[in-house]
Amino acid sequence: MGRGRFVVQFSLSYLVLRLFSLCHSRQQYYDGNDTLDDDGNRALGYSCIIGVDPLSCDSFLTFRTDIAIQSFQSIFEIASLLNVDAADTAAINGVHDSRLSLPLPEDQPLLLVPATCSCSGGRYSHNASYWVKAGDTYYLASIGVFQNLTTWPAMDDANPLDVPTNLSIGRKINVPLRCACPAVDQLADGVKYLLTYVVGVGDTVQSLARRFQVDYQQMLEANNLTVASRISAFTTLLVPLEAKPTKEQFSLPASPFLPLDSVRIADTDIIVKVSVRVIIKIP
Ligand SMILES: *[C@@H]1O[C@H](CO)[C@@H](O)[C@H](O)[C@H]1NC(C)=O
Ligand SMILES: *[C@@H]1O[C@H](CO)[C@@H](O)[C@H](O)[C@H]1NC(C)=O
Ligand SMILES: *[C@@H]1O[C@H](CO)[C@@H](O)[C@H](O)[C@H]1NC(C)=O
Ligand SMILES: *[C@@H]1O[C@H](CO)[C@@H](O)[C@H](O)[C@H]1NC(C)=O
Ligand SMILES: *[C@@H]1O[C@H](CO)[C@@H](O)[C@H](O)[C@H]1NC(C)=O
Repeated sequence: MGRGRFVVQFSLSYLVLRLFSLCHSRQQYYDGNDTLDDDGNRALGYSCIIGVDPLSCDSFLTFRTDIAIQSFQSIFEIASLLNVDAADTAAINGVHDSRLSLPLPEDQPLLLVPATCSCSGGRYSHNASYWVKAGDTYYLASIGVFQNLTTWPAMDDANPLDVPTNLSIGRKINVPLRCACPAVDQLADGVKYLLTYVVGVGDTVQSLARRFQVDYQQMLEANNLTVASRISAFTTLLVPLEAKPTKEQFSLPASPFLPLDSVRIADTDIIVKVSVRVIIKIP
Protein backbone atom coordinates (compact mmCIF):
# COMPACT_ATOMS: atom_id res chain seq x y z
CA MET A 1 0.00 0.00 0.00
CA GLY A 2 2.78 2.37 0.99
CA ARG A 3 4.68 1.54 -2.16
CA GLY A 4 1.51 2.08 -4.19
CA ARG A 5 1.17 5.58 -2.81
CA PHE A 6 4.80 6.30 -3.64
CA VAL A 7 4.29 5.28 -7.26
CA VAL A 8 1.20 7.49 -7.57
CA GLN A 9 3.07 10.46 -6.14
CA PHE A 10 5.97 9.89 -8.50
CA SER A 11 3.67 9.82 -11.52
CA LEU A 12 1.85 12.95 -10.43
CA SER A 13 5.09 14.84 -9.97
CA TYR A 14 6.09 13.72 -13.48
CA LEU A 15 2.81 15.23 -14.72
CA VAL A 16 3.45 18.48 -12.83
CA LEU A 17 6.98 18.67 -14.23
CA ARG A 18 5.63 18.18 -17.72
CA LEU A 19 3.02 20.90 -17.31
CA PHE A 20 5.69 23.18 -15.87
CA SER A 21 7.98 22.63 -18.81
CA LEU A 22 5.12 23.25 -21.28
CA CYS A 23 4.34 26.59 -19.63
CA HIS A 24 7.95 27.62 -20.01
CA SER A 25 8.40 26.44 -23.56
CA ARG A 26 10.13 28.74 -26.02
CA GLN A 27 9.26 26.69 -29.05
CA GLN A 28 8.87 28.29 -32.43
CA TYR A 29 5.58 29.41 -33.90
CA TYR A 30 4.22 27.85 -37.03
CA ASP A 31 3.95 30.81 -39.41
CA GLY A 32 1.14 29.46 -41.54
CA ASN A 33 0.30 31.70 -44.42
CA ASP A 34 2.11 34.62 -42.80
CA THR A 35 5.19 33.49 -44.68
CA LEU A 36 3.46 34.25 -47.93
CA ASP A 37 2.87 37.94 -47.37
CA ASP A 38 4.57 40.88 -45.78
CA ASP A 39 2.26 41.55 -42.86
CA GLY A 40 4.63 41.05 -39.99
CA ASN A 41 7.97 39.98 -38.64
CA ARG A 42 7.11 36.32 -38.48
CA ALA A 43 7.63 35.93 -42.21
CA LEU A 44 11.30 36.74 -41.66
CA GLY A 45 12.16 33.44 -40.00
CA TYR A 46 12.11 31.57 -36.73
CA SER A 47 12.95 33.74 -33.75
CA CYS A 48 15.85 33.58 -31.31
CA ILE A 49 16.84 35.53 -28.24
CA ILE A 50 20.53 35.95 -27.46
CA GLY A 51 21.25 34.72 -23.94
CA VAL A 52 18.18 32.45 -23.95
CA ASP A 53 18.45 30.35 -27.11
CA PRO A 54 21.48 28.54 -28.58
CA LEU A 55 23.45 30.92 -30.82
CA SER A 56 24.12 28.28 -33.41
CA CYS A 57 23.59 24.57 -34.00
CA ASP A 58 23.59 21.83 -36.58
CA SER A 59 20.25 21.68 -38.32
CA PHE A 60 18.76 20.00 -41.38
CA LEU A 61 16.83 21.23 -44.40
CA THR A 62 14.89 19.11 -46.86
CA PHE A 63 15.00 19.55 -50.61
CA ARG A 64 12.53 17.89 -52.97
CA THR A 65 14.30 15.65 -55.45
CA ASP A 66 11.52 15.72 -58.09
CA ILE A 67 11.78 19.50 -58.40
CA ALA A 68 15.58 19.68 -57.91
CA ILE A 69 16.19 17.18 -60.72
CA GLN A 70 14.77 19.70 -63.23
CA SER A 71 17.56 22.20 -62.54
CA PHE A 72 20.42 20.38 -60.82
CA GLN A 73 22.62 17.51 -61.97
CA SER A 74 24.21 16.59 -58.66
CA ILE A 75 24.29 17.03 -54.91
CA PHE A 76 27.39 19.15 -55.46
CA GLU A 77 25.32 21.76 -57.34
CA ILE A 78 22.57 21.76 -54.71
CA ALA A 79 25.16 22.07 -51.93
CA SER A 80 26.64 25.12 -53.74
CA LEU A 81 23.21 26.73 -54.01
CA LEU A 82 22.42 26.11 -50.34
CA ASN A 83 25.94 26.93 -49.08
CA VAL A 84 26.45 23.59 -47.35
CA ASP A 85 29.21 20.99 -47.38
CA ALA A 86 28.83 18.84 -50.51
CA ALA A 87 30.61 15.77 -49.08
CA ASP A 88 28.51 15.80 -45.88
CA THR A 89 25.33 16.23 -47.90
CA ALA A 90 26.26 13.37 -50.23
CA ALA A 91 27.16 11.11 -47.30
CA ILE A 92 23.92 11.62 -45.37
CA ASN A 93 21.98 10.82 -48.56
CA GLY A 94 23.96 7.64 -49.14
CA VAL A 95 25.72 9.00 -52.25
CA HIS A 96 29.44 8.21 -52.48
CA ASP A 97 30.47 11.17 -54.57
CA SER A 98 28.66 14.52 -54.52
CA ARG A 99 29.25 14.93 -58.28
CA LEU A 100 27.29 11.80 -59.21
CA SER A 101 23.76 12.21 -60.55
CA LEU A 102 20.98 12.89 -58.09
CA PRO A 103 19.07 9.97 -56.58
CA LEU A 104 15.81 9.27 -58.40
CA PRO A 105 12.74 10.94 -56.85
CA GLU A 106 10.96 7.58 -56.58
CA ASP A 107 13.87 6.14 -54.58
CA GLN A 108 14.43 9.19 -52.45
CA PRO A 109 11.76 11.90 -52.61
CA LEU A 110 13.56 14.18 -50.14
CA LEU A 111 17.22 15.07 -49.96
CA LEU A 112 18.56 15.74 -46.49
CA VAL A 113 20.72 18.84 -46.23
CA PRO A 114 22.85 19.34 -43.10
CA ALA A 115 23.12 23.11 -42.50
CA THR A 116 24.54 25.22 -39.69
CA CYS A 117 21.85 27.43 -38.23
CA SER A 118 22.76 30.73 -36.51
CA CYS A 119 21.01 33.44 -34.56
CA SER A 120 21.43 37.03 -35.72
CA GLY A 121 19.18 40.05 -35.32
CA GLY A 122 16.55 38.02 -33.47
CA ARG A 123 16.18 35.45 -36.28
CA TYR A 124 17.66 32.08 -36.98
CA SER A 125 18.93 31.47 -40.50
CA HIS A 126 21.29 29.45 -42.59
CA ASN A 127 22.72 31.96 -45.06
CA ALA A 128 23.15 31.14 -48.70
CA SER A 129 23.99 33.43 -51.62
CA TYR A 130 22.37 33.76 -54.99
CA TRP A 131 23.43 35.48 -58.19
CA VAL A 132 20.52 37.27 -59.85
CA LYS A 133 19.51 36.04 -63.31
CA ALA A 134 17.41 37.81 -65.94
CA GLY A 135 13.77 38.10 -64.87
CA ASP A 136 14.45 37.17 -61.23
CA THR A 137 12.60 38.58 -58.27
CA TYR A 138 12.95 37.62 -54.61
CA TYR A 139 9.53 36.02 -54.84
CA LEU A 140 10.38 33.86 -57.85
CA ALA A 141 13.72 32.77 -56.39
CA SER A 142 12.11 31.91 -53.02
CA ILE A 143 9.30 29.79 -54.48
CA GLY A 144 11.38 28.37 -57.32
CA VAL A 145 15.03 27.51 -56.91
CA PHE A 146 14.90 27.72 -53.09
CA GLN A 147 11.73 25.58 -52.86
CA ASN A 148 10.08 27.86 -50.27
CA LEU A 149 12.89 27.37 -47.75
CA THR A 150 12.93 31.16 -47.63
CA THR A 151 10.37 33.89 -48.30
CA TRP A 152 10.59 37.10 -50.30
CA PRO A 153 10.14 39.33 -47.22
CA ALA A 154 13.07 37.55 -45.58
CA MET A 155 15.21 38.01 -48.70
CA ASP A 156 14.24 41.67 -48.89
CA ASP A 157 15.19 42.11 -45.24
CA ALA A 158 18.57 40.41 -45.73
CA ASN A 159 19.51 42.71 -48.62
CA PRO A 160 18.85 46.22 -47.30
CA LEU A 161 20.92 47.93 -50.00
CA ASP A 162 19.05 46.38 -52.92
CA VAL A 163 15.86 47.62 -54.54
CA PRO A 164 13.73 44.48 -54.99
CA THR A 165 12.07 45.80 -58.15
CA ASN A 166 15.41 46.63 -59.77
CA LEU A 167 17.84 43.78 -59.17
CA SER A 168 20.82 43.87 -61.49
CA ILE A 169 21.73 40.67 -63.26
CA GLY A 170 24.76 38.98 -61.73
CA ARG A 171 24.32 40.74 -58.38
CA LYS A 172 25.03 38.55 -55.36
CA ILE A 173 22.18 38.59 -52.86
CA ASN A 174 21.88 37.05 -49.39
CA VAL A 175 19.36 34.28 -48.93
CA PRO A 176 18.36 33.48 -45.32
CA LEU A 177 17.06 29.90 -45.30
CA ARG A 178 14.60 29.02 -42.55
CA CYS A 179 16.04 26.92 -39.73
CA ALA A 180 16.00 26.85 -35.93
CA CYS A 181 17.91 25.44 -32.97
CA PRO A 182 16.13 23.45 -30.26
CA ALA A 183 15.13 25.62 -27.29
CA VAL A 184 16.66 24.76 -23.91
CA ASP A 185 13.58 22.83 -22.76
CA GLN A 186 13.42 20.95 -26.04
CA LEU A 187 17.05 19.92 -25.49
CA ALA A 188 16.05 18.74 -22.00
CA ASP A 189 13.26 16.75 -23.66
CA GLY A 190 15.82 14.92 -25.82
CA VAL A 191 15.39 16.92 -29.04
CA LYS A 192 18.82 17.39 -30.58
CA TYR A 193 18.05 18.82 -34.01
CA LEU A 194 15.29 20.61 -35.84
CA LEU A 195 14.71 19.84 -39.46
CA THR A 196 13.00 22.35 -41.75
CA TYR A 197 10.41 20.62 -43.91
CA VAL A 198 8.32 22.42 -46.53
CA VAL A 199 4.75 21.16 -46.18
CA GLY A 200 3.39 19.40 -49.25
CA VAL A 201 -0.19 19.31 -50.53
CA GLY A 202 -2.21 16.90 -48.34
CA ASP A 203 0.32 16.72 -45.48
CA THR A 204 -0.98 16.90 -41.93
CA VAL A 205 1.05 17.09 -38.72
CA GLN A 206 -0.17 13.59 -37.95
CA SER A 207 0.85 12.14 -41.30
CA LEU A 208 4.25 13.83 -41.12
CA ALA A 209 4.91 12.58 -37.58
CA ARG A 210 4.32 9.05 -38.89
CA ARG A 211 6.26 9.55 -42.07
CA PHE A 212 9.34 10.81 -40.22
CA GLN A 213 8.80 8.55 -37.19
CA VAL A 214 8.78 11.33 -34.65
CA ASP A 215 6.54 11.89 -31.64
CA TYR A 216 3.31 13.60 -32.70
CA GLN A 217 3.03 15.62 -29.48
CA GLN A 218 6.64 16.83 -29.74
CA MET A 219 5.96 17.81 -33.34
CA LEU A 220 2.95 19.89 -32.29
CA GLU A 221 4.93 21.50 -29.47
CA ALA A 222 7.92 22.27 -31.69
CA ASN A 223 5.64 24.40 -33.86
CA ASN A 224 3.27 25.72 -31.18
CA LEU A 225 0.38 23.91 -32.81
CA THR A 226 -2.57 22.11 -31.25
CA VAL A 227 -4.39 19.01 -32.45
CA ALA A 228 -6.99 21.32 -34.01
CA SER A 229 -4.45 23.37 -36.02
CA ARG A 230 -4.38 23.22 -39.80
CA ILE A 231 -1.16 23.49 -41.76
CA SER A 232 -0.88 24.77 -45.33
CA ALA A 233 1.16 23.59 -48.28
CA PHE A 234 4.42 25.47 -48.97
CA THR A 235 4.87 26.70 -45.40
CA THR A 236 7.68 25.32 -43.24
CA LEU A 237 7.23 22.97 -40.32
CA LEU A 238 9.98 22.08 -37.85
CA VAL A 239 10.52 18.37 -37.29
CA PRO A 240 12.09 17.66 -33.86
CA LEU A 241 14.71 14.92 -34.05
CA GLU A 242 16.39 13.03 -31.21
CA ALA A 243 19.18 11.77 -33.48
CA LYS A 244 20.66 12.71 -36.83
CA PRO A 245 18.13 11.90 -39.54
CA THR A 246 18.87 8.94 -41.76
CA LYS A 247 18.43 8.46 -45.46
CA GLU A 248 16.01 5.57 -44.74
CA GLN A 249 13.81 7.77 -42.56
CA PHE A 250 13.47 10.26 -45.42
CA SER A 251 13.19 7.73 -48.24
CA LEU A 252 9.64 6.91 -47.27
CA PRO A 253 7.16 8.28 -49.78
CA ALA A 254 4.61 10.84 -48.70
CA SER A 255 1.79 8.85 -47.18
CA PRO A 256 -1.84 9.33 -48.15
CA PHE A 257 -4.22 10.71 -45.55
CA LEU A 258 -4.20 8.59 -42.38
CA PRO A 259 -7.13 8.57 -39.95
CA LEU A 260 -6.66 10.27 -36.59
CA ASP A 261 -5.80 7.99 -33.73
CA SER A 262 -3.32 8.07 -30.83
CA VAL A 263 -4.20 11.73 -30.30
CA ARG A 264 -2.59 13.25 -27.20
CA ILE A 265 -0.07 10.44 -26.86
CA ALA A 266 1.81 12.16 -24.03
CA ASP A 267 -1.27 12.81 -21.89
CA THR A 268 -2.61 9.29 -22.41
CA ASP A 269 0.75 7.90 -21.45
CA ILE A 270 0.68 9.73 -18.13
CA ILE A 271 -2.87 8.61 -17.28
CA VAL A 272 -2.13 5.00 -18.22
CA LYS A 273 0.99 4.95 -16.02
CA VAL A 274 -0.92 6.21 -12.97
CA SER A 275 -3.87 3.84 -13.24
CA VAL A 276 -1.91 0.69 -14.15
CA ARG A 277 0.48 1.05 -11.26
CA VAL A 278 -2.29 1.69 -8.70
CA ILE A 279 -4.22 -1.42 -9.83
CA ILE A 280 -1.09 -3.58 -9.54
CA LYS A 281 -0.33 -2.43 -6.00
CA ILE A 282 -3.84 -2.69 -4.44
CA PRO A 283 -3.66 -6.44 -3.62
C1 LIG B 1 6.37 27.38 -53.29
O1 LIG B 1 5.14 27.95 -52.89
C2 LIG B 1 4.35 28.45 -53.95
C3 LIG B 1 3.09 29.02 -53.35
O2 LIG B 1 3.41 30.04 -52.47
C4 LIG B 1 4.03 27.35 -54.94
O3 LIG B 1 3.32 27.88 -56.03
C5 LIG B 1 5.33 26.72 -55.43
O4 LIG B 1 5.02 25.62 -56.26
C6 LIG B 1 6.15 26.24 -54.26
N1 LIG B 1 7.42 25.76 -54.74
C7 LIG B 1 7.82 24.50 -54.60
C8 LIG B 1 9.15 24.18 -55.17
O5 LIG B 1 7.14 23.66 -54.05
C1 LIG C 1 23.50 35.78 -42.01
O1 LIG C 1 23.02 36.93 -42.68
C2 LIG C 1 22.65 38.01 -41.82
C3 LIG C 1 22.13 39.12 -42.71
O2 LIG C 1 21.02 38.70 -43.41
C4 LIG C 1 23.83 38.47 -41.01
O3 LIG C 1 23.42 39.47 -40.11
C5 LIG C 1 24.39 37.28 -40.22
O4 LIG C 1 25.55 37.68 -39.54
C6 LIG C 1 24.71 36.13 -41.17
N1 LIG C 1 25.11 34.97 -40.37
C7 LIG C 1 26.25 34.31 -40.57
C8 LIG C 1 26.50 33.15 -39.67
O5 LIG C 1 27.02 34.63 -41.44
C1 LIG D 1 18.14 50.23 -61.48
O1 LIG D 1 19.49 50.02 -61.08
C2 LIG D 1 20.45 50.56 -61.96
C3 LIG D 1 21.84 50.23 -61.41
O2 LIG D 1 21.88 49.01 -60.77
C4 LIG D 1 20.27 52.07 -62.07
O3 LIG D 1 21.19 52.59 -63.02
C5 LIG D 1 18.85 52.38 -62.51
O4 LIG D 1 18.66 53.79 -62.49
C6 LIG D 1 17.85 51.72 -61.58
N1 LIG D 1 16.50 51.93 -62.09
C7 LIG D 1 15.51 52.37 -61.33
C8 LIG D 1 14.18 52.49 -61.98
O5 LIG D 1 15.66 52.60 -60.13
C1 LIG E 1 2.07 28.30 -27.59
O1 LIG E 1 2.23 29.67 -27.31
C2 LIG E 1 1.46 30.15 -26.23
C3 LIG E 1 1.69 31.63 -26.10
O2 LIG E 1 1.07 32.28 -27.17
C4 LIG E 1 1.88 29.43 -24.97
O3 LIG E 1 1.08 29.88 -23.89
C5 LIG E 1 1.70 27.95 -25.16
O4 LIG E 1 2.20 27.27 -24.03
C6 LIG E 1 2.45 27.47 -26.38
N1 LIG E 1 2.09 26.07 -26.61
C7 LIG E 1 2.97 25.14 -26.96
C8 LIG E 1 2.43 23.79 -27.16
O5 LIG E 1 4.16 25.41 -27.13
C1 LIG F 1 -3.71 29.43 -46.22
O1 LIG F 1 -4.20 29.92 -47.45
C2 LIG F 1 -4.88 28.95 -48.22
C3 LIG F 1 -5.26 29.59 -49.55
O2 LIG F 1 -5.38 30.97 -49.45
C4 LIG F 1 -6.11 28.45 -47.45
O3 LIG F 1 -6.77 27.46 -48.20
C5 LIG F 1 -5.64 27.85 -46.14
O4 LIG F 1 -6.74 27.45 -45.36
C6 LIG F 1 -4.81 28.87 -45.34
N1 LIG F 1 -4.24 28.15 -44.20
C7 LIG F 1 -4.19 28.64 -42.97
C8 LIG F 1 -3.54 27.77 -41.94
O5 LIG F 1 -4.63 29.75 -42.67
